[in-house]
Amino acid sequence: MAETFGITRKGEKASLYLLENRQGMQAYVTDFGATLVRLLVPDRQGNLRDVVLGYDTAEGYEKGSGYFGATVGRVANRIGGGSFSLNGRIYELTPNDNGKHTLHGGRDFFGQRLWQVESADSQKIVFVISSPDGDQGFPGSVEMKVTYTLNDEGELKIHYHGVPDQDTPLNFTNHSYFNLNGHSAGDVLEQTVVLEADGYTRADGELIPTGEILPVEGTPMDFRQEKAIGRDIGESYEALVLAGGYDHNYVLNGAGMRRAAKMCSAESGICMEVYTDLPGIQFYTGNFVDHEEGKDKAVYEKHQGACFETQYYPDALHHENFPSPVVKAGETYETVTVYRFSANS
Ligand code: GLA
Repeated sequence: MAETFGITRKGEKASLYLLENRQGMQAYVTDFGATLVRLLVPDRQGNLRDVVLGYDTAEGYEKGSGYFGATVGRVANRIGGGSFSLNGRIYELTPNDNGKHTLHGGRDFFGQRLWQVESADSQKIVFVISSPDGDQGFPGSVEMKVTYTLNDEGELKIHYHGVPDQDTPLNFTNHSYFNLNGHSAGDVLEQTVVLEADGYTRADGELIPTGEILPVEGTPMDFRQEKAIGRDIGESYEALVLAGGYDHNYVLNGAGMRRAAKMCSAESGICMEVYTDLPGIQFYTGNFVDHEEGKDKAVYEKHQGACFETQYYPDALHHENFPSPVVKAGETYETVTVYRFSANS
């Protein structure tokens, strides 16, 4: 059931909800931003570790800068130049990134709004929000639903649903930072990752895609075989130098619901697999995290968590060769991301 999670700047009361499964996993989510706050997973000894970065209260999320655990939209990631055209009209967005690009939807972030709770039980919660025509500069109104389910297969599932009344881009994601040793356990550089991607979208020094898709083969970007995050992160390879680590959209192999990524910790024994039906995933190694005060008095530093942001490719609105995030009027936008946890003995 819900406990209080603080009062927002607007004077709204935020609440925290608990989901539990038979493996003893617990997920705490708040209606402030439809945000994942805590995710407790049994390690190989059966001790619970909280594997996501976050804050103790809604106020922490209001002050924080890293989108910890947030539901991000209407269009996650970057839109170059902060505008786009659709059906012959130009739409101006918020230049909140490098003074000109739009990042994570721009003004009035969805992770900074109070969502309504449509229903909640011990394994599932449905958050709803009405986004009016012109919200953040995007056309059309849409009622967005984000459903978190924690099932008995060790899976935390996030389901996104909306039916816009005009053609409009929709590209929601979750911005959790995972640390499989526990959120306060230092950096993730020794934890291993697999990314099911033969290519990634090349980006410029402001992380705006050039439109090229480069092969990972023979480069430090290659995570097709399990590899420690820190093994190649310091290499003087263009993509890594420009981003200060990994902060790239990987072009996922295949289509439909499939495994996109895996992360494991030898220390805790915890592994996480990420499944998505989307074409891309932003693998981001917390390069901008800098002495951020988080939950339980933890202080988060660079590389303390890794994000796996399932998505349409960044700046897809400006590249015809990228799959389009535009949803037609009256059509259903629906996508699912699953984080599946296990512990080896
Ligand atoms: C995304 C971006 C990063 C950074 C974070 C938020 O992952 O790709 O460059 O902006 O969000 O700090």
